[in-house]
Amino acid sequence: MSMIMGTGSAVSGKVLTNFDLEKIVDTTNEWIRERSGIERRHILEKGKTNSDLAMLAGQRALEDADIAADELDYIIVGTVTGDSRFPATACRVQAKLGATNAAAFDISAACSGFIYGITLADDFVRNSVERKILVIGSEVLSRITDWEDRTTCVLFGDGAGAVVIGSSDGKKGVLSTYIKSDGRLGDLLYMPGEGSTHPTTHETIDQRLHFLKMKGREVFKHAVRTMADAANHGLKEAGYHTDDIDLLITHQANIRIIDAIAKRLKLPEEKVFVNIQEYGNTSSASIPIALDQARMEGRLNDGDLCLLVAFGGGFTWGSSVIQF
Ligand code: ACO
Repeated sequence: MSMIMGTGSAVSGKVLTNFDLEKIVDTTNEWIRERSGIERRHILEKGKTNSDLAMLAGQRALEDADIAADELDYIIVGTVTGDSRFPATACRVQAKLGATNAAAFDISAACSGFIYGITLADDFVRNSVERKILVIGSEVLSRITDWEDRTTCVLFGDGAGAVVIGSSDGKKGVLSTYIKSDGRLGDLLYMPGEGSTHPTTHETIDQRLHFLKMKGREVFKHAVRTMADAANHGLKEAGYHTDDIDLLITHQANIRIIDAIAKRLKLPEEKVFVNIQEYGNTSSASIPIALDQARMEGRLNDGDLCLLVAFGGGFTWGSSVIQF
């Protein structure tokens, strides 16, 4: 069995509030707060890259785990906003950390990228107890956000979160992982441009194909359904019930989605972690940032049972039950 040996996170100090957004698009602080729960988000400074943020989160997780970078066997980065199409952002992070003994690669599963990452890491550790793996969720969504589209630009932010995964000491560990996808829902949330379908031309820029597109209402509906499915599968596989859960950490996409999941699982407010007001939707980074914050705030202590649940573009979804 694998376990989380350390956590870390990083966001830029540059904050964009709802009031700032009122000056950019036709929106209001009230609309954004009521519809999404978001109050502010952090935006990566110009000149800084995804791998800079990811490296910082990774470094903090390594320090927390008391592991040196050259002890790492794998670096896995969940991201859809990597530094460039290739090489993998994980390779950039590897170079920045000096993790010379690792194999590094990215996972493209949008907001589920971190859960997909720990699922793979758990499998790697189960197959060889010596493995030490850095799993990072890192996004610079501000760079694929259409700042003229009020239906999307108010929702997203930048950030990175990381965990070090190694073999379990027997008392704590990753009790279950579950991942799933449904490619038929791909066009509900996607970026049409910058791939081989629409290589970048003046026309694709004019058509704003290099920005994220989302059918918000439909995404909302599927998000609740898929996260409830993921939670139930994860708990069943781990052999626990919702009553046993000490803390639920869902992907932070919308407070109404989080509330709907908590309601379906019949979990009281104090068992549900929410930080969307501070960061907005940071895609694959949202769960590891929340995990790190929950640990720092003493909301996850030794013996606690934590349920992680994510959904994202693809569609992808998944969950993990972890004993701390
Ligand atoms: N400010 C003010 N008004 C707005 C804004 C805005 N920023 N955006 C939309 N509106 C208007 C719309 O134009 C519409 O006006 P109309 O009634 O005159 O047509 C009205 O508000 C209602 O719009 P809806 O889209 O119906 O609003 P809804 O209550 O569905 O909330 C939202 C929209 C917040 C996007 C919601 O649907 C949602 O959260 N969906 C899920 C999104 C999500 O989770 N995405 C992340 C996926 S994770 C990943 O992989 C990145």
